[in-house]
Amino acid sequence: MAFTFFFRDQQVLERVVEHSLPNLAGRSHPRIWDAGVAMGQEPYTLSIMFAERMGHFAFNNLRIDATDVESNGQFARVIEAAQYPKEELERSPEGILEKYFEADGQPGHFRVIDTIRRPIAYQRHDLLSFQEIGHGYSLVLCKNVLLHFRPPERIEVLRMFHRALAPGGFFASEQTQEMPRELASLFQRVIPDVPLFRKVEGGECGS
Ligand SMILES: C[S@@+](CC[C@H](N)C(=O)[O-])C[C@H]1O[C@@H](n2cnc3c(N)ncnc32)[C@H](O)[C@@H]1O
Repeated sequence: MAFTFFFRDQQVLERVVEHSLPNLAGRSHPRIWDAGVAMGQEPYTLSIMFAERMGHFAFNNLRIDATDVESNGQFARVIEAAQYPKEELERSPEGILEKYFEADGQPGHFRVIDTIRRPIAYQRHDLLSFQEIGHGYSLVLCKNVLLHFRPPERIEVLRMFHRALAPGGFFASEQTQEMPRELASLFQRVIPDVPLFRKVEGGECGS
């Protein structure tokens, strides 16, 4: 269930980053919530993608809150160490390994460089608590997680994401994820070929 890898769903993520960038760049302290991150490959991928596209100043103020339900602390330790086996990085686009990873002593392993690690703040969080970790997010990403929930749970989690988003903020998921009909008044699809939705104000949540 924790299967993931660097640059998974690369095309989806690139479109998400491209569309959410103007909203993020317009904020003094842009914040992203990446929910269900497993061992951190996804938030580090996001951090790399934003580093590639954002100005130095804006990127320095970016924060990515990464969360997962895993409870024995293993994910937290891996994300903190930010050290991954070379085989895990082999699907990354050309030049990424050399630019954003460094050898750190353990043979066959590479560590994410500090610039890319800095925006990531990990905490344990259960999406099925239906309690948002904060508010004012410009982007909430929750990929390959909602499919494991029952439809009523999925709806409550999406309502929670709606509350967590800033006005005009974006929600993104994996390619096969549909927005439930019940939430049509809360989220508007941004582009037809990518599961990217913009928060609609004044929906039934009243936020
Ligand atoms: C398949 S991984 C997805 C990783 C990454 N988002 C991706 O798309 O590659 C699913 C992750 O969701 C997490 N997860 C499952 N149930 C959850 C819950 N109730 N709250 C938060 N995370 C959960 C699992 O621990 C796992 O790390």
